Amino acid sequence: MNARILILAGDGVGPEVTQATKRVLEHVAQKFSHSFTFSEGLIGGCAIDATGSALPEATVKAAETADAVLLGAVGGPKWDDPKAKTRPEDGLLAIRKALKLYANLRPVKVYPELAYASPLKPEIIAGVDFLVVRELTGGLYFGQPKERRTRADGGTTAVDTLEYHDYEVQRILKLAFELAASRRNIVASVDKANVLETSRLWREYATALAKDYPATTLQHVLVDTAAMRLVMSPSHFDVLVTENTFGDILTDEAAVLVGSMGLLPSASIGEVKNSKGLPLGLYEPIHGSAPDIAGKGIANPVGTILSAAMLLRHSLGLVSEADAVENAVEAALKEGARTADLTKADALSTAQMTDKILSHL
Ligand code: IPM
Ligand code: MG
Repeated sequence: MNARILILAGDGVGPEVTQATKRVLEHVAQKFSHSFTFSEGLIGGCAIDATGSALPEATVKAAETADAVLLGAVGGPKWDDPKAKTRPEDGLLAIRKALKLYANLRPVKVYPELAYASPLKPEIIAGVDFLVVRELTGGLYFGQPKERRTRADGGTTAVDTLEYHDYEVQRILKLAFELAASRRNIVASVDKANVLETSRLWREYATALAKDYPATTLQHVLVDTAAMRLVMSPSHFDVLVTENTFGDILTDEAAVLVGSMGLLPSASIGEVKNSKGLPLGLYEPIHGSAPDIAGKGIANPVGTILSAAMLLRHSLGLVSEADAVENAVEAALKEGARTADLTKADALSTAQMTDKILSHL
C-alpha cells in the first residue's frame, strides 16, 4: 500500500516522540512491503512563531490531502500569556474543526507489569481495558456566544455556551455502539441529565439508539458518578461515550490509572474519508508537550507509537501491522524496558526505548 502521512511535530516533546514514531512506521513499511510518504507541517506554538497563526492554511491543505496525520503536542510556557491573541491550543481545536474530527477515541488499558506505577491499588486496576469515545467538535469548546461582556455596573461577565445539535449527539452515540460490538458490548453514556438540557437530549437519543443494538447493554451514568467509578471500579467499564468537556476531564483522570500519561494514544476521526475510503484521522499521544523534559531525549515514545498503531488500523486498514506494533510495545514493556516516567533506575532514553520496541517488531 502507498500512503501519505503528515507529521505535525508541534512543541515541547512533540518533535522527539514523533521522530521516534516515524522510525517505527518506516520499519512497518519495510517489513510489510508498504510505501509510506512522510511530509511535515507546522501547528501550535512553533507555527505561531513562524507564521503568526497556530494553524497555518498550508497545514490544513496538507492534512486534507494526507491519508492520516500524526501529531506530537502543542503548547508551552513561552505562549502561555492569557492575554495573547492566539494560543497554541487554538491550532489543535482548529484542525479538529477543519477536518471535522468529531470523535476522539482514547483507549485505556493497564499493562500488568506496570501496575506498580499506578497510584491505585493493583486489585483495583487489574483487568482495566476500556475505551472513551469523546465528542470533539461541539459543546462548550465551540458553542457561541463565547465572549466577555461589560455590564452596566462596569463589572465583567464571561459567557461560554453549551450547545449540542441532534445530529452531533446521534453520530457520536452511534459510533460508540458500533465500537462496543467488537468489545464487551457495554456502553456507559455519561451525562449530567439531572441538571443539563443538553444531557437530557443526549440521554433521550442514547435510549432510542439502544433499540437498534439489542446485544448491547446501555448504562446511563452521571458524570460525577463516572468520575468516582473510574477510580473505584474502573475494570467494569467497556465503552464510555460522552460530550466534549466531560470527555476532556475524564480522560485525564483515566490516564492516571495506567501509571503514566506517556503510555496512552488517541485517535480523532470523523466523516471525511481519505484515499483508502477510510476515515482521515488525527493521531496523537495524550500527554501534551511536557515542557519540563522537552529537548532532553527522555520522553516516553509509547503513547505516540501506540497512536501510530491506531493510525494503521483506523485510517489505513492495516490491522496485522497495527497488532504487530501493539505487540512489540507490550513485549518491550514485559522485557523491562522503561523510560524515566516509569522508573527511577536505569531509565532508557526515547531513542533506546524505540530501539527496544523495534527489536520486537
Ligand atoms: C486534550 C487537550 C486539549 C483539549 C487542549 C490542549 C485544548 O486537553 O486533547 O484533551 O482540551 O481538548
Ligand atoms: Mg485534555
